Formats: sequence, structure tokens, C-alpha cells
Amino acid sequence: MTDVNIESAKRAAGKQAVADHFDPSASHVGIGSGTTIVYVVEAIKESSTNPQIRFVPTGYQSRQVIVQAGLTPIAFDSLPEDTMLDIAFDGADEVDVELNCIKGGGACLFQEKLVAERAKKFICVADYRKKQDRLLTNWPTIPIEVAPISVPTVLHSLRVLGSSNPKLRTTLLEKSGPLKTDQDFFIIDAPFPKLLIAEDIAAGKGKGDGSDGTWEVNKLSEAIKALTGVLEVGIFSGLNGPDADAISGKEGVKTVT
Ligand code: 5RP
Repeated sequence: MTDVNIESAKRAAGKQAVADHFDPSASHVGIGSGTTIVYVVEAIKESSTNPQIRFVPTGYQSRQVIVQAGLTPIAFDSLPEDTMLDIAFDGADEVDVELNCIKGGGACLFQEKLVAERAKKFICVADYRKKQDRLLTNWPTIPIEVAPISVPTVLHSLRVLGSSNPKLRTTLLEKSGPLKTDQDFFIIDAPFPKLLIAEDIAAGKGKGDGSDGTWEVNKLSEAIKALTGVLEVGIFSGLNGPDADAISGKEGVKTVT
């Protein structure tokens, strides 16, 4: 059942993000995946009639949202090599105080990262439930996109890195087998303890390199990405500028700066 309060918080966040960051004279705009991004597209549609803007999707669902809104999509691999996107909007599963994100709840993390990294500005749009001090507070796992043949070896390596019970994601109808991404890859969801940030390391809360069971956001991201078979990891860090996050609070919208 749809929770009306959460839907209105998502809509408010989408509207605020577009009001604060969308420039109708942009030429290329990245559009992420999930349910919150639908409200971003709705707000873009309301605020601009510029037919020159090309919208870059992050997967099948994202393209559908763009097309259904009457906007013009352009495939990521059709972009001229030297073209940067003016901006990319996307949702998140969890966001920490440094605006690092966990993404991939909708299994689109690889194309989402391609698009986010190609944008001059990345705007993460998330409702109040997603904002936490540290990653892996409410959202329990890190989504990781892997080549199907590598699943057993990646699962093993994740356990060695300290993940308690990493699991291959299945479709809702479990008997239909593993969920396939837009790349025909699979997703592993890996639980880890709450992730540290640099100030935690400085404060002696842990080494953050896995040796004492603690991981710092970037160190864990690098360690997972280095495993053979891993296409992409759902930790997005260092992409958000200091003014790049619109979070909807329960009582309205606040922009985190
Ligand atoms: C998909 C994603 C989504 O952006 C993330 O799951 C947030 O989705 P929603 O807006 O529906 O909560 O990373 O892979």
C-alpha cells in the first residue's frame, strides 16, 4: 500500500531539488531511477518547456519515466565523448552526513554511477527516512552488481571482507531465480557494520580498513570494487557538492547545505 505521507515527502523533495538546482537552459540532464525520481521529472515538466534539453536515463525504468513525461531521452552511449551532463538527479537508499549515498535498491546502480560521474553536478533527492548520520544505519546492505559466473567467488570474498551474510538478490517471485539488471548481471546485497567516515577514524573509532571489523566508506567501496567479477558497487561518494542535496523533512522541505 502507498504511504501518503512518504509520497508527499518524496514529491516535496523532488520539487525542492528542481526549484533549487534545475536550469531550464541546460542541454543534458541525467535522470536516475526509482520512485522519488518520478517527482523530479514531474517538477521538471512543470517548470520547463525547453525542447532542446536531452535527458539521459540510467536504465529501462528511467527511460520510461522520461518518455512518459513527453521529454526527449538520449542514450548514455550516444553522447559525444567530450559532453558532460549539466546536472544529474537521482534518488538514494540512504545518505550520510557527508552526503555519501547507498544506491542500488532498484538494481540500477551501474548506469546510475556512469551518469552521476559524467555530470557537472549530482543532486541526490531523498525523503526524510533516508538521511542518517552514517551509512548502513537503517538501510541494511550494500547492493553490488556482479557478473553471473562470479557469484560464488564474490560471495566468498565479501565474507572475507567482513560481510556477515551476503545474498544474491532474487526476483519477487523467488522461484523465477536471481534478479537481472539492465546489463543482464546479478545483484548481491551485502550487510556490513555501520560505515565510518574520516572524522570517526581521526577520533579513534576504528581503523576503517577492515582489519578490526570497521570500514570507512571509501575504503570499503574500493575493496569491493577491486573484486574480480564486480561491475559496480552501490556506494556513491564524493559526487555531491556542498549544496547538492534536497531532503524533505517531515514538516516540509529543507535543503541541506
Ligand atoms: C535504484 C536506486 C534508487 O535511486 C534508490 O533505490 C531510491 O529509490 P526510491 O526513490 O524508490 O526510494 O538507487 O537502483
